[in-house]
Amino acid sequence: MTKIREAWGSRFGFILAAAGSAVGLGNIWKFPYIAGENGGAAFIFIYLVCIAIIGFPVLIAEVLIGRTTQRNPVGAFSALAKSKLWVSVGFLGVIAGFMILSFYSVIGGWTLGYVVETLKGSLSNFQSPDEAGTLFGSLVGNVSWGLGFHTLFFAMVMGIVIRGVQGGIERSSKIMMPILVSILVILIIRGVTLDGASEGLAFLWVPDWSKINGQAILIALGHAFFTLSLGMGAMLTYGSYMSKKDSVISSSAQIVFLDTLIAIMAGVAIFTAVFASGLDPAAGPGLIFQTLPAVFSTMPGGTYFSFLFFLLLAIAALTSAISLLEVVVAYFVDEKGWNRKGAVLIFGGSIFLLGVPSALSFNLLADAKIFDKTFFDVVDFLASNVLLPFGGLMIAVFVGWIWSTTAVLEAVKEGAEELFESYPWFEGIWMLFLKFVAPILITLVLLNSLGIV
Ligand code: PHE
Repeated sequence: MTKIREAWGSRFGFILAAAGSAVGLGNIWKFPYIAGENGGAAFIFIYLVCIAIIGFPVLIAEVLIGRTTQRNPVGAFSALAKSKLWVSVGFLGVIAGFMILSFYSVIGGWTLGYVVETLKGSLSNFQSPDEAGTLFGSLVGNVSWGLGFHTLFFAMVMGIVIRGVQGGIERSSKIMMPILVSILVILIIRGVTLDGASEGLAFLWVPDWSKINGQAILIALGHAFFTLSLGMGAMLTYGSYMSKKDSVISSSAQIVFLDTLIAIMAGVAIFTAVFASGLDPAAGPGLIFQTLPAVFSTMPGGTYFSFLFFLLLAIAALTSAISLLEVVVAYFVDEKGWNRKGAVLIFGGSIFLLGVPSALSFNLLADAKIFDKTFFDVVDFLASNVLLPFGGLMIAVFVGWIWSTTAVLEAVKEGAEELFESYPWFEGIWMLFLKFVAPILITLVLLNSLGIV
């Protein structure tokens, strides 16, 4: 008996779920601080170019593999390629899902913790970012705080994924994504109406090219992968629940558009407020948890904005985390015949346990270093800087060179016939980027991550 595989209820549901995966801590926590550290507008410009010439073509390729095969990453590669080599690329995706989710959930837990701290009033009286930094240090340094919110966050992720593709992932994205956008709009209005906001806007729009060097370009490129959830099969898995009647090209374009728009909106909301309070935009990873609470303390009604901001961050993290768990679950459901509930409980539970040493990396295990990095840093580095770019490279090479071009073009045109009639040049350009531009540039990022160039 063949089981009927799950699918999205509508194209709109797919777009919201995929945009939910893409929009995450990467957009709201990481993008503003790396833009801040690398000179603002000039960096943003380079990031946009990377999204356009690598992110977009590779996203189309990844969603296409999923939609064509209607399988998880491992099943998808075994359906399309004979060689075991390609099947192991799918496996690496499942492993990356395990690893990224384990530490992502620790930061996701912090965002929930900050929502609670705001409600308790502990974030409202800072005189300086140093004071906010001290509180941050004592919160994440507290074993039960860190582990407790990691557990709560993980329980929420499992609670959604266990309800299935339509009833869990799609439904929750339809509720959470509009809330996310509304909160951002409120925060932007608050930000741009502060005295001194124009300096923050100038920081985002007026480029300072002197800050741009090879390193900044590579950071922009690496981030393009992370922010679009590329290279580990999350978009492939979401694409596998898509109908062949819908266009892969226009869906991918909408996902890229939403992800980029939301990153820029987060930048506007954050930098207007940071500049208006005269604080340092290049504060690094602590920008969100240390600088921003100090910023909120200085503004009227700051507690409300602080609550909204951390809620925004928690929602963004949640909709991304569910896509990471779904990759692992889809593998066990499709390939090993597990039922969804069992797969979520057993493998979700294992990923949760793998996250425990990451959560403890900020307290009990802070001094347990592997090559000078904590457990958290090691997992983050391996997954984000090695596995994702490598997976992205393999996807570009697979669709550009291995899968027969006739079959690829036939597959990509399904559901997008009109687009290819109106813009016949599109296929040539897409192939050019997949075959040459993406593999060369991604190889550079990878070598750089490994310290070779
Ligand atoms: N795109 C997510 C973010 O920006 C992170 C992510 C990476 C999610 C890979 C799923 C897969 O935070």
